[in-house]
Amino acid sequence: MQRFVARRVLSEANFLRVQQRCFTLAAADEKEVVNTDTPRPPVLPPFPYTPPRYTGPSGDEIMALRKKYVMQQAPYYKKPLNLVDGKMQYVFDENGKRYLDALAGVSVVSCGHCHPYVEEAIIKQMKSVQHTTVLYLNHTLTDYLQALADKMPGNLKVFYLLNSGTEANELAMLLARLYTGNNDIIALRNAYHGLAPATMSTNGLRIEKFNIVQTGILHALDPNPYRGDFGSDGKKYAQDVQNIIDYATSGKVAGFISETIQGVGGVVELAPGYLPAVYKSVREAGGVCIADEAITGFGRTGSHYWAFENQGVIPDIVTMAKGIGNGSPLSAVVTTPEIAEVLGRSTYYSTFAGNPISTTAGLATLNVIEKEGLQKNAYDVGSYLKKRLTALKHKYPIIGDVRGRGLMIGVELVEDRELKTPLPKKVSDEIHERLKDLGCLVGKAGLYSNVIRLLPPLCFNKEDADFLARALDYTLWNIRSVESSC
Ligand SMILES: Cc1ncc(COP(=O)(O)O)c(C=O)c1O
Repeated sequence: MQRFVARRVLSEANFLRVQQRCFTLAAADEKEVVNTDTPRPPVLPPFPYTPPRYTGPSGDEIMALRKKYVMQQAPYYKKPLNLVDGKMQYVFDENGKRYLDALAGVSVVSCGHCHPYVEEAIIKQMKSVQHTTVLYLNHTLTDYLQALADKMPGNLKVFYLLNSGTEANELAMLLARLYTGNNDIIALRNAYHGLAPATMSTNGLRIEKFNIVQTGILHALDPNPYRGDFGSDGKKYAQDVQNIIDYATSGKVAGFISETIQGVGGVVELAPGYLPAVYKSVREAGGVCIADEAITGFGRTGSHYWAFENQGVIPDIVTMAKGIGNGSPLSAVVTTPEIAEVLGRSTYYSTFAGNPISTTAGLATLNVIEKEGLQKNAYDVGSYLKKRLTALKHKYPIIGDVRGRGLMIGVELVEDRELKTPLPKKVSDEIHERLKDLGCLVGKAGLYSNVIRLLPPLCFNKEDADFLARALDYTLWNIRSVESSC
């Protein structure tokens, strides 16, 4: 693999020199055909929908009210976007400008914005009965769970539905502790599982924690193939979990929780061979293994329905959220009947859990993913997009890594390829801003906010992928002026 230094990527003369060198090395080493032409401004693919004229409050007016009434301000962009309409992989702002949504509300809108089948199913259910609670019977819950159970491997057949990924992970850890009678749970550095007390404790990123008491969690080395000490050797990282069990616990643990591809941490795929070795150590120490599929589930990673399948393991508990209901607040915990039994020891109740609207949305989402072949589409279009982005890596030394599976892709931006120094946040932010101006919405992730995170609706197509790659090409080509503009 080529190695070169681009110490001042943003200095124009250096940028061009390194870029040329990069091209030469890439072409020689990897026989890649890299287009070094000056990119033209990208044009959005045609789309046969025009939203009705928007007559509501402006973004400025909404922002003023948000500052007054909302506790924390987190909108993207110098001038936050007021999105007023959405169709499939596109969203529209208050002026009718169309954007390609390559983030999907952070991986939530799995089938597409206002997907007609999901929309129709929800409206139909709305007109029948909206809310009953699990204190009464309604077939929507069991219709959904029967279908969802068919998607689960092994003996993962008993569910509890909730409203968010955080709640699902909180319950998963409660189950682990009740079932094993142990307290310690091992999580990963660079992980994200939510922001309630137990889940916040598991987070392995300082930007996803508050300085309050957080107990019962031990953080293992992140098996990060790009930045980790052991490269892609999953077994070496797994030894750290065994060491934690041996040196930092009584020898007994309640469990282990991880994403299979870390999302908030910057689309980091766990090194191959990691989970089988860790699951073995954890089970030998009396613990159970929890897979957080909040982002990665429902076919997003393309090759499999659940990301843990990529590592050839079957967890004891799986949590799912986000794309589960195409936008409806819904999450789920699934486990074996044996583990599920512990919840009978006391009352566990959540008012909106398994409500008819969310379960209807969940079933409709499952059906659309199946009928429209969205898992295969995630594989085909995701592989194509990754290839296009990898070609850009050969053109721009500012791209340190392109990674991910299916339609979960990360582009890590660096200042120095050899040292892997993260690109300064102000430059990553400027790239993010310029992509938006070109009509392309992407996410930011990683401890240094230097990873472009792509989690589009699973109906994304190759023309969208071409547009996204052209938009990034155009942005990176022109970002040389960023030093003076920031
Ligand atoms: C992997 C993972 N787990 C859990 C959560 C928390 O989900 P929620 O925001 O629905 O509580 C998130 C949210 O980003 C996530 O990415």
